[in-house]
Formats: sequence, C-alpha cells, structure tokens
Amino acid sequence: MKSIVSTGRGGSGKTSFIALLAKYLRPKNSLLLIDADPDENLAEMIGVNLEKEKIKTISSVLFDIQKGEVPEELKSLPRPNQIEYMFHTCLYEGTGFDLFSLGTKWTVGCYCHPNNILRSIIPRLSINYDYTLIDSPAGLEHLNRKVTSEVNDIFAIIDPSKKSFDNVKRAGRIAEEIGIKYNNFYAVANYRFSQEMGGLIEKKTGLRYLGKINYDKSLEEYTFNGKSLLDLPEDSPAFVSVKKIMEKIDQEKKEI
Ligand SMILES: Nc1ncnc2c1ncn2[C@@H]1O[C@H](COP(=O)(O)OP(=O)(O)OP(=O)(O)O)[C@@H](O)[C@H]1O
Ligand SMILES: [Mg+2]
Repeated sequence: MKSIVSTGRGGSGKTSFIALLAKYLRPKNSLLLIDADPDENLAEMIGVNLEKEKIKTISSVLFDIQKGEVPEELKSLPRPNQIEYMFHTCLYEGTGFDLFSLGTKWTVGCYCHPNNILRSIIPRLSINYDYTLIDSPAGLEHLNRKVTSEVNDIFAIIDPSKKSFDNVKRAGRIAEEIGIKYNNFYAVANYRFSQEMGGLIEKKTGLRYLGKINYDKSLEEYTFNGKSLLDLPEDSPAFVSVKKIMEKIDQEKKEI
C-alpha cells in the first residue's frame, strides 16, 4: 500500500505522468486512481468516460446529499454515513484499476466537512490496493484542500520556467505548513526541458531529481484523439522515461 501524488504548474504533464505510472504499475499491482482535478482529465486519459458509465463524482454526491436527494432509507442517517453509503456510486471499476473523481470544487460553506470525510475514506479504501495514484489540479490551492494527509511520494513535474521552480519550492513549504506527511518529494523534468537543463533542477530546488520525460509525439496524438495512454506502445518515449524513473527509485531503495 503506497500512495503517490503529482504536483506542478498548469499543463506541465501531471495527468500524463499519473496515467503513464498507471500503465507501468498495472501489470503487477492493484491500483486506485483518484482524480483530484475539477477538470477531470485523468479518466479520459486512460480511456474512461465516467458520464457514460453513470459514475458520479464525489462533489455531485455531496450536492445530492445537501439537497436531500438520497434514497429514502438513508435520509435518517447522519451525513457522514450517507456519504459512506453513496460512495459506491462514485467508484469506477476498470480492468486492473479502480478510479474515482472528486469533481468540481465545493462551495465555501461545505468546504471542510467533505474534506474531513474524504480524508477518512481514502486511507480506508487505499488499504485494499497496492498503489493509490492521485492526480492534482494545477497550482497549489489543492494542497489546502488536503484530501489526504499522508502520502509516500510527491512527484513535482517541472517545466522550464522560473515560475515553475518557484512553484515547486512553495509546494514544499505549503505541504510542511499544513502538515501533509510524505516520505519523498521528487522532481521530474517535463518534456520541454533540454537534457542539460535537467541537471539544474537539483541545484535550484534541493529536491531529488529523477530525470526527464521525453517528448512523445504518439502521446500528443493519443491525448488529442482521446485515446487511452494505457494503450501507448511499450517503447513510446514518454512511457520509457517513466519506466526509467521508477526503476531508478527501485534501484536506489535496493542500495540503501
Ligand atoms: N511527454 C510528452 N510529450 C509530448 N507532449 C506531452 C508530453 N506530456 C504531456 N504532453 C502534452 O502536454 C499537454 C498537457 O499534459 P497534461 O494534461 O498531462 O498536463 P497537466 O499538468 O495535467 O495539465 P493541467 O494542469 O491542465 O491538469 C497534453 O495535451 C499533452 O499532449
Ligand atoms: Mg492534469
């Protein structure tokens, strides 16, 4: 049971990274994927149409509960229990992975409450899987949503811009400040970095730099055409990059 979360600026490649990680881990592990981005790209990138599958987002279930739109037999229960009961309507069960999506942001009035409930549901659910992979929205505000208080690895996907370096430093600070516990905070250079520039990352951020995701024309075509990244060829450059990064982590662990 291990949890991994992506972070980084808009369009840096967070969702592609999580999708490719799922492709890498799926053959040997059970996976729970959590789409924490209100734009809900992750499902699409791995070929799942939640609407068509009639799977609800967590937000929409919370809104239903707020409006009292729950099955008659649940109406007398406290809200946290109603959410527990309704949760199964949010879980998509795929081949080799399950997935749920948080959906749109909650209104200020109900902000804390659902987060607390999720924070208790996610760890209990995660226990049943080898890996929980969380795809984050751009920016840092999601960290404040703090839907999970403990993760093993944070992967910051960095693009070649000063803003991106500032962003990753702030992400580290915020995580510390609001008390998100993690074991590793890794940096990965996105496909727009040149090979040489990648080396700067460790110097500039103080984070452990794992390597670069190579530019991948087929990935671009797949996302443009709405095809699942899980079906990318094994030798596609971006997938090979993710594989190398994960093998590097495994190798380092063996050496310790
Ligand atoms: N290795 C790559 N090679 C070529 N293009 C890539 C690569 N990785 C990502 N892209 C392109 O960059 C775009 C953004 O990628 P992605 O959606 O993964 O980023 P993101 O950080 O999740 O974005 P957002 O902040 O909007 O959630 C995609 O349309 C994809 O085509
Ligand atoms: Mg994304």
